[in-house]
Amino acid sequence: MRTPFIAGNWKMNKTAAEAVTFLNEIKDALDKIEGVDIAVCPPSIAIPAVAEVLSGSKVGVGAQNICGAESGAFTGEIAANMITPFCQYVIIGHSERRAYFGVLDSWVNQKAKVALAHGLTPIICVGESLEQNEAGETVSFVSGQVKAAFDGFTAEQAASCVIAYEPIWAIGTGKSASVEQAGGIIHDSIRVPLAEMFGEETAQAIRIQYGGSVKEGNIAAYMSHPDIDGALVGGAALKAGFVELVANAV
Ligand code: 13P
Repeated sequence: MRTPFIAGNWKMNKTAAEAVTFLNEIKDALDKIEGVDIAVCPPSIAIPAVAEVLSGSKVGVGAQNICGAESGAFTGEIAANMITPFCQYVIIGHSERRAYFGVLDSWVNQKAKVALAHGLTPIICVGESLEQNEAGETVSFVSGQVKAAFDGFTAEQAASCVIAYEPIWAIGTGKSASVEQAGGIIHDSIRVPLAEMFGEETAQAIRIQYGGSVKEGNIAAYMSHPDIDGALVGGAALKAGFVELVANAV
C-alpha cells in the first residue's frame, strides 16, 4: 500500500520571509489532513527558515537540487550534507535543470546515489517534450531516463526513491495530461522498466507522482488512477489553495 505523497516545488519563488509567512498561514490546516505525506521544496536559501517554521509539523522539507559530489570546487552548488540538517527530500533532475543547467542522465544517477547515501529521499523527475510526445517517442524516451537514473541501484535503494513523471509540455502551461494518458505512461514507461530492473515487488513499492498543471480541481482525478501516487505541484503550491489540493488528494 503506497501512501499518497504531494510535494510542492516552489521553484525560484518566495524569499525566506515570504516562505515563513505563507507556511504560518497553511501549516496547521495541512497538519490536519491525514493519509497523505506532504512536503514543500523552497529555494535553498529559504530552507533553514522553512525547516524551523515546520518543526513539529508533519509537512516535510525538500531541496530542489544537490550536487553529485560531496564537496569541492563546484561554484553555485549545494552538497547533500548541507541540506540534511533541514531536509528529508531532494528533487533530482527536474526538466528545468536538465534544460537550462545541462543536467545529464548520468548526473541524475550520481545525485540520487549521493542523496540516498545521506538518508535523503530523492524525487527523481522524468518526462518527455511535446515533440517527443507527438513523434510517439514517449515510452522509449521516458523509460530510457528511468533506466539511466536507476543504473547500478539495488532494489532496496530503488524502493527508497520517489519518481515524478512530468511531461514538459504540461509544466506551467495549464495544459495537463489526461488521467489516462499520465497513468498509462507512468505504467508503461516507469513501472514496467522498474519491474524489469528490480522485480515486480519493488516496482509496486515505488511511489510515482504526476506533475504538470496539477490544481485543486484535477488532483482527485489523477489520484483515482492506480499507478498515480501523488503529485509534484508547481504554481498551485505557492498559494493557500495548496491546502485544498492536498485535501482533495485523499
Ligand atoms: P506546474 O504545476 O506549475 O505546472 O509545475 C509542475 C512542476 O514542474 C513541478 O515540479
